[in-house]
Amino acid sequence: MAGSSPMIKIAPSILSADFSRLGEEVRAVEQAGADYVHVDVMDGHFVPNLTIGPLVVGAVAKIATKPLDVHLMISPVDPFIPDFVKAGAAIISVHAEATLHLDRTLRLIRELGCKAGVALNPATPICNLSSVLHLVDMVVVMSVNPGFGGQFFIDHALHKLKTIRRMINDRGLQVELEVDGGIKPDNIHAAAQAGADVFVAGSAVFSQPDYTAIIQELRANASLEVPL
Ligand code: DX5
Ligand code: ZN
Repeated sequence: MAGSSPMIKIAPSILSADFSRLGEEVRAVEQAGADYVHVDVMDGHFVPNLTIGPLVVGAVAKIATKPLDVHLMISPVDPFIPDFVKAGAAIISVHAEATLHLDRTLRLIRELGCKAGVALNPATPICNLSSVLHLVDMVVVMSVNPGFGGQFFIDHALHKLKTIRRMINDRGLQVELEVDGGIKPDNIHAAAQAGADVFVAGSAVFSQPDYTAIIQELRANASLEVPL
């Protein structure tokens, strides 16, 4: 996968942004080279944290120029999908563990005109994907247990990325493979080698004073031809 730098997308997660200056932060990461703006929605039920809902997503959508990559960590999820579509999400990812009827949920997202993604927790087996891969635009491999920014990358995610990349390619599908959690300049290369092409980075980006420099570093390391 390395060497495919034009395909590599960096998606800063605004979970680690300064929420008192959210608009400025979104503009800053866009100007710094972000490809997507990753928005983490948490409900205190599916994951042990609460963040934002459609109101804030709508406010961000008003000023964002890059696609909003909305990661829903909520259950139930179906009743809220129309609200996030109306709010301006470009991609809505739902967790396979958060809906009993994953096929229905993914079709609903697409019927409403949005791109659909499916996210898998670290402990969720890849086989959950096999019957829905044709219904999605993105697979999200969680490389942390969702709920918080700033956690450590779980290495097993690399095996999952490799297997899912093979599934996508074998079926000739155009599905983006996003890795979410603990991505830093020193591990992004391994994730890219394993087949990821969209990289969420929250604390790695927003902890730095220079967003352009860190996004460039992440992109460069992901694009390297040789192992670090
Ligand atoms: C975790 C979220 C991630 C997280 C990424 O539940 O889905 O998007 O904010 O943050 P870092 O890059 O700090 O792990
Ligand atoms: Zn996320």
